[in-house]
Amino acid sequence: MTSPPFALLRKKAYGNEDQHEYVAWLAEFGKLALPALKDTGSLVIDLGGAYQRGVPTRSLYNYRVLIEFVDKLGYRLAQEFFWHNPSKLPSPIEWVNKRKIRVTDSVNTVWWLSKTDHPKADVRKVLVEYSDKMKQLLKDPAKYYDPTERPSQHAISAGFARDNGGAIPKNLITLPNSESNSRYMRACKAIGLTRHPARFPEGLPKFFIEFLTDQNDLVVDIFSGSNTTGRVAESLGRRWLGCESNADYAGASLMRFLESHQLDNASDIADLTRLYGCASTKGGVDVTKAKSTLAKRRKP
Ligand SMILES: C[S@@+](CC[C@H](N)C(=O)[O-])C[C@H]1O[C@@H](n2cnc3c(N)ncnc32)[C@H](O)[C@@H]1O
Repeated sequence: MTSPPFALLRKKAYGNEDQHEYVAWLAEFGKLALPALKDTGSLVIDLGGAYQRGVPTRSLYNYRVLIEFVDKLGYRLAQEFFWHNPSKLPSPIEWVNKRKIRVTDSVNTVWWLSKTDHPKADVRKVLVEYSDKMKQLLKDPAKYYDPTERPSQHAISAGFARDNGGAIPKNLITLPNSESNSRYMRACKAIGLTRHPARFPEGLPKFFIEFLTDQNDLVVDIFSGSNTTGRVAESLGRRWLGCESNADYAGASLMRFLESHQLDNASDIADLTRLYGCASTKGGVDVTKAKSTLAKRRKP
């Protein structure tokens, strides 16, 4: 599960050549990931859309990534998803706010790729709450529901009125990205660290980790940033690994794993600062070791 640094590209022009470079760059990671995946494994990539530089027309880079991964590298497209972020601000200012010729872009493409045609997946693990209408129908199917053929010619049987514990989710995932009071945010504030600027909400990796993996499976985020994926994987009982090239982000990601009380205690905050220093300069964060160091220091 990963979200590559598509923002990096914004430093450059979004012309064809740069898009081509981006696709080739990301494909190098895709090539390495494929043999590491189990036959039942998946690679889920969240990619935000972008405009071409200077004109109100969209880049196709995220679609080019998909085609490259499937046609050239041999991944399968298990299914395309769209993450709708209702809290997304209008941009680019020029086209959306000033000239008012484009609407707010609030959807990321999320490519669920797999190594084989049959990656492990179980929709029953990610059922969503039934709509109010469906709840009424389930209470009294005879009153609300007649199992006849629909105008669309879909023949829906009486089994449709069976309570399966929740509805099958759609491939449009609506999740605001407005985390403001998490442990991570509070810890970064407490010790004056810059928070990662491009985190995804926990709900996004949570959906795919629950859907596509079981307890003790290994979840890897190859562009882990603040390690939202690792935090979620840990709470769901999965093993995890995160790779992050920026040592400051990797160091700060440690804060996701600390207990609340450790943030409320002044001496712990000094310890956090020291730990962060070690984590961000020694090229890796061993979360278990860091937590036990903190726990030992708390004993009188
Ligand atoms: C969009 S962010 C990921 C944010 C993450 N999903 C989160 O919730 O915090 C992409 C991250 O990839 C990192 N990155 C860039 N190039 C990398 C590389 N070659 N290897 C590992 N990480 C890299 C960036 O530093 C950045 O933190």
